Amino acid sequence: MEARPIILDVDTGIDDMVALLIAATAPELNLRGVTCVAGNVEIHHVARNTATILQMVGRQDVPVSIGAARPLVRRLRTAPETHGPTGTGYVELRGEDKALRSTEFTAVPAPQYFGAHIDRHPGEMTIVALGPLTNLAVAARVGIDMTTGLREVIWMGGTLRTRGNTTETGEWNACVDPEAADECLAGGVVKRIFPLDATQGLVFTLDDLDAVPDTPLAGIVRDAIRFYIAFHRESDGIDGCYLHDPVTLIGSLLAPDLVTETVHEALACDTGADLQAAGSLYRWTDGGRPTAEIATMIDADGMKAELLARLARAVAAPGT
Ligand code: BDR
Ligand code: CA
Repeated sequence: MEARPIILDVDTGIDDMVALLIAATAPELNLRGVTCVAGNVEIHHVARNTATILQMVGRQDVPVSIGAARPLVRRLRTAPETHGPTGTGYVELRGEDKALRSTEFTAVPAPQYFGAHIDRHPGEMTIVALGPLTNLAVAARVGIDMTTGLREVIWMGGTLRTRGNTTETGEWNACVDPEAADECLAGGVVKRIFPLDATQGLVFTLDDLDAVPDTPLAGIVRDAIRFYIAFHRESDGIDGCYLHDPVTLIGSLLAPDLVTETVHEALACDTGADLQAAGSLYRWTDGGRPTAEIATMIDADGMKAELLARLARAVAAPGT
């Protein structure tokens, strides 16, 4: 079967990093580009982390496009306590790095980058959005056909019944840019959603990483995840971490059988001034909004095995 063309939209981020490694080395996927959005960290960290990670698995051929440096209307909030000062936990991918020069940073901003692919191959591209939906909302605002022009958009974001990780009912990607989330939900841009209800089905521990070959890249991943686990221990009281973004990538495209429950709902995202409510998803009952398929449960053991197998392949890939 031909590898499926995808663009990953990321705010790299520790779990984005794991998703990127897996996407860049999955034979089933044809990673046509990675677009960056501010979220977990500021856009310059996102761009540098993303390019460095691609380079570490020998994928500097994948174009990296810079996108929104801030949400549509709100000020940017970042999460250094969750992802570390530069987004990769105890690891800092900064400093002079000559290899980065070979990365194809495209001059085309993220929304226009989507547009160029849509023009060339209408209806073929899948976007997996693993951060705030700012780039996608901007694209729709400037008239790029983000619905029929794409095969589909899959988003890690929001929560239905599970307690929020940013507010009581709000998940981070939705809370950073609620206006973008709501515009994408209203316009039918997002076809499939992986909220916390699904992604928190799997708790990943440091011991799990023992199953991965001990390469220099595995050491970097371990140091990033160690930070993430320390955060989760403090904030969620668990001895492990949630890997939202790779769970979304795997559950949506690589091993969809691992999703054990889905619901179909038309959703909206609260965009009010009350910061405790903004970013919360709610059921839209007034009509006029398309339904999205929402994963609500996963096979945790199967997902862990799949994730580890894919990560093992990634950390053994010949990088630069
Ligand atoms: C989401 O927010 C970010 O911190 C993670 O990278 C993930 O995309 C989880 O709420
Ligand atoms: Ca993310």
